[in-house]
Amino acid sequence: MKILITGGAGFIGSHVVRLFVEKYTNYHIFNIDLLTYAGNLENLKDIEGKPNYTFIKGDITNEVFINELFEKHKFEKVIHLAAESHVDRSIKDPLAFVKTNVIGTMVLLNAFKNTWKDSFKDKLFYHISTDEVYGTLGQIGLFTETTAYDPNSPYSASKASSDHFVRAYGETYGMPYVITNCSNNYGQNQFPEKLIPLFINNIIHNKPLPVYGDGNYTRDWLYIKDHAVAIDLVFHKGINHETYNIGGFNEWKNIDLVKLLCQQMDEKLNRPKGTSEKLITYVKDRPGHDLRYAIDASKINKELGWKPSVTFEEGLNKTIDWYLNNETWLNNVTSGDYQMYYQKQYN
Ligand SMILES: NC(=O)c1ccc[n+]([C@@H]2O[C@H](COP(=O)([O-])OP(=O)(O)OC[C@H]3O[C@@H](n4cnc5c(N)ncnc54)[C@H](O)[C@@H]3O)[C@@H](O)[C@H]2O)c1
Repeated sequence: MKILITGGAGFIGSHVVRLFVEKYTNYHIFNIDLLTYAGNLENLKDIEGKPNYTFIKGDITNEVFINELFEKHKFEKVIHLAAESHVDRSIKDPLAFVKTNVIGTMVLLNAFKNTWKDSFKDKLFYHISTDEVYGTLGQIGLFTETTAYDPNSPYSASKASSDHFVRAYGETYGMPYVITNCSNNYGQNQFPEKLIPLFINNIIHNKPLPVYGDGNYTRDWLYIKDHAVAIDLVFHKGINHETYNIGGFNEWKNIDLVKLLCQQMDEKLNRPKGTSEKLITYVKDRPGHDLRYAIDASKINKELGWKPSVTFEEGLNKTIDWYLNNETWLNNVTSGDYQMYYQKQYN
């Protein structure tokens, strides 16, 4: 089976690519990634020589390129992760998010539909989305698969739009698809612009820890490897035209999470208790900031038997250890040197 994974050099994509390449040696995995600032091939160093793996540098918004690729390889299944993924960047440059997340998804949908329109038998378009499409919750309640979409940031609006197009292709053209909407991921290889790796890096270097507003924003957190396992499960067992919410059953107020992180970092760096907490700095709130996200993941749990394998404390512990043991990765990312890896390796 030929599977196209988009955005496989990014944080979540690299874990999914590795899992599929190592576990399914009878599948051929094609990873297409533009290698934007968020794409890092160093994430996949360990599998790049595997015979069932091919990396292709390319842009999902380039229609000619994508159509040619589908014509040549006839990908039977797609796992679509490529996206602009950072809310703060979407506030600064919303159009870039429409281009990649909406147009890019459309280009892939069209190429997939045109390749298989005579028979979609045993084909699948798996679209990876976010819980942010549901907007914000008050103090109580959970997002279920039937919660109405109500996106508040340009990022979540672009993801919501792409979800709608995937559904529309399912209804209009009979295209087989599944969608998963997942909560905040954390773990190894995450670009240090997102909260947990950013704060780990700042604590290492004794830099301020910028906390938005009063720090009471609440998110559900999911360990990356548990997400990759859920994706594997939905890919193989998910029901056509269904959506599954994926979450960690693990809600944290930002400020409580940051304090836990500070405690664990102090212990690991042998710094006196309370040292890292002194770095916490409250900063002006993000516009349109959603108060609370929380996921009801009971559908995937009941129907597919998935549940997270680690507690937050364990996952955070593993994550911190990884960043402390992979200083070169972190330095290459923060200095920009990781962007040379593709040239060195592939030219
Ligand atoms: N990180 C999270 O917490 C989270 C939670 C829920 C859903 N998601 C979704 O999961 C997916 C992956 O998220 P992530 O955190 O790994 O993102 P990421 O930013 O780490 O990776 C995105 C990848 O897409 C690639 N890319 C961007 N534009 C491209 C283009 N035009 N053509 C080809 N490749 C392109 C980048 O180079 C990068 O490798 C996204 O669709 C995101 O919306 C993420």
